[in-house]
Amino acid sequence: MADRHNLRGYDFVEFYVGSARASAYYLSRALGLTVSGYSGPETGVRDRTSFWLTKGRLQLVLTSALAPSTDEILSFTQRHGDGVRRWAVQVDDVPEAFAEATKNGAVAAFRPRRLEDAQGLVEEAGLRLYDDTELVFINRERYRGVFRPGFTAPRHSPPAGEDSALACIDHIVGNVRVNEMDAWAAWYERTLGFDTFIDFKAGDIGTRFSALLSKVVRSPNRAIKNPINEPYPGLKRSQIEEFLEEYRGTGVQHIAIASADLLSTVRVLRQNGVEFLDVPPAYYQALRARKDLHIAESIDDLERLGILCDIEGQGYLLQLFTRPIGDRPTFFFEFIQRREGAQGFGKGNFQALFEALELEQHKRGNL
Ligand code: FE2
Repeated sequence: MADRHNLRGYDFVEFYVGSARASAYYLSRALGLTVSGYSGPETGVRDRTSFWLTKGRLQLVLTSALAPSTDEILSFTQRHGDGVRRWAVQVDDVPEAFAEATKNGAVAAFRPRRLEDAQGLVEEAGLRLYDDTELVFINRERYRGVFRPGFTAPRHSPPAGEDSALACIDHIVGNVRVNEMDAWAAWYERTLGFDTFIDFKAGDIGTRFSALLSKVVRSPNRAIKNPINEPYPGLKRSQIEEFLEEYRGTGVQHIAIASADLLSTVRVLRQNGVEFLDVPPAYYQALRARKDLHIAESIDDLERLGILCDIEGQGYLLQLFTRPIGDRPTFFFEFIQRREGAQGFGKGNFQALFEALELEQHKRGNL
């Protein structure tokens, strides 16, 4: 398919949170990120404060409201709790990408705008995504300053600690309601020129209690991959339904961050206090019994660190998932290493994630 937008790859992900400073401290320490930028009253921004955390090509922004009038942030966190407000895609020509997307049915969140200061120019435009999320087209190539106008280097940046080997965003997952997944997959195809390359149907992922449907869409250059999940009717409330209820709507369920060395990542993050979903010992017994699994890592090491492993067409995947990061059982992180050119999403790992989440859901009394 023709790449009409010339979408290059993920840029930043911005979370709206109760306290940007506290979240920035936790996430920078927990994930080994550097606090690279700050925005707030000292930089001329009076209604909100933001921290820009980076490592390699990974960029997270944490923003909270400073005034009761900052309703855009306060109404978001009141309804959803801490969560992903927007994620950005790098494009060459922001007005053109915006015009093409809106011509094909996307709804504008904000029209193309130019943010300028003495350090240069940032261009951006936003589309509405899911209930209360935004997809941003951005071009920061002509900006030489810190992140974007309104940001400055932080006064104090604590050392990032031991190298967590995190590199970039691998994929961003949306949870939507029953009957909405196909519509959103079609939205990505129509407005952004994506194609659907994985389709988990009824019976692929689930337990005897609950299940889900999932499609994965990707950009023409494959740099942007976005799974979309919807609940599938079952005996009990599924984890996607729990998300939709606790988040009070549809939105981003998890972000997967690619690691250059997942075993190091997990060792360092566990030392830093990050909590991961438990993997049952039976998972590793089954892994040892697989005759088709030829991997460089020892299964003992994977078991010690609680890492999932799945063969995926060519190559294999190492993955694992955190517990929810905030106070509600909603958003979490995944860490992933694609070995020997693996492209997919690990149906076996997806199933293991589904089962582990269902156990946690049971503990919360929400199953
Ligand atoms: Fe994922």
